[in-house]
Amino acid sequence: MPLFGKDLGIDLGTVNTIIAEGGEVVLFEPTVVAIDIEELKIVEVGQAAREMDGRVPDTIEIMHPLREGVIADFEVTHRMLGHFVEKVCGPARLFKPRIMMTVPYGVTSVESRAVHEAALQAGSRDAYLIQEPLAAAIGVGLPVATPSGNMVVTLGGGVTQAAVISTGGIVSADCVRIGGMRLDEAIIAYIRKKYGLVIGSRTAEEAKIRVGAAVPQDEDRSMEIQGQDQVTGLPRTVIIVTGEIVEALQETLQLQLAAVRNVLEHTPPELASDIIDRGMVITGGGSLLRGIDKWLTQKTGVAAYLAEDPVECISKGAARALTMLEKIRRYLPAV
Ligand SMILES: Nc1ncnc2c1ncn2[C@@H]1O[C@H](COP(=O)(O)OP(=O)(O)OP(=O)(O)O)[C@@H](O)[C@H]1O
Ligand SMILES: [Mg+2]
Repeated sequence: MPLFGKDLGIDLGTVNTIIAEGGEVVLFEPTVVAIDIEELKIVEVGQAAREMDGRVPDTIEIMHPLREGVIADFEVTHRMLGHFVEKVCGPARLFKPRIMMTVPYGVTSVESRAVHEAALQAGSRDAYLIQEPLAAAIGVGLPVATPSGNMVVTLGGGVTQAAVISTGGIVSADCVRIGGMRLDEAIIAYIRKKYGLVIGSRTAEEAKIRVGAAVPQDEDRSMEIQGQDQVTGLPRTVIIVTGEIVEALQETLQLQLAAVRNVLEHTPPELASDIIDRGMVITGGGSLLRGIDKWLTQKTGVAAYLAEDPVECISKGAARALTMLEKIRRYLPAV
């Protein structure tokens, strides 16, 4: 326990914001804010705001302040973070927390400075940034400080990242601004084209999670989905099966694969042999897609396996990074 205030790891994601302290997750909320646009004030944040989506009058706007892994609306982001930090630390803070916050690999200095500033304005004493794949690798418990090749892939809602880490820092990495939300859009497009049915993004995500997969499965699941007929505008229902979602996702998965391929191609030979031996570990919400490990293994020829704690490991790794600052500091993004 730090002497002055808490040490928090914050995984600021396009879809979810997760805060860890020590080895525990202390907050897990959607990165969503509900704003009263007449009075210009925040009505709800996180889960409560997400639940209002689609059920509120015109005067309330449901905002997603991050897009493709980076801050799209600074004011809303830092106020949302302020709420989350207050929820974790309590309102009357004698000692402010230290915060280690994730940023996608390869963001611009302007983008990372915005995240740093948001962490400071949210009420931190010191704020540091860490590349998301490095936080994931630390959280998974890979031996990142040793001179060995460790490969990690993060499949988020807005971005896909792959990195090889050795001796405390990233040796080669790539990030594409395509993630789970694009998979949902691919499902929407597929259903519209095949059935002339318009569905919402929540329905598409549900289909991806409940019946979807990256590769054909022995057991085909099915699900009834509701939408609006493209021609008549009337509500209609269709039944979709796993095989259809697999087909709908392939093109977007290929775009995500580009990041992984790029990293494998640019890894120095000494480290590449470690990776061939040890494989790559997959993290992030997208790693929960059935068969994604098998799909990545097939497409790259390198064994891909799911982390034990694939979603929360990133925030836990960020929190842990605060305890090993001296070892990794020189590899963290400068602000
Ligand atoms: N079982 C599942 N199968 C497939 N996808 C899933 C599953 N569970 C969650 N997801 C997807 O994971 C994504 C959210 O993952 P995560 O919380 O890691 O993203 P994020 O950190 O907010 O985004 P980013 O890191 O890209 O900014 C969403 O697109 C969601 O649909
Ligand atoms: Mg993420």
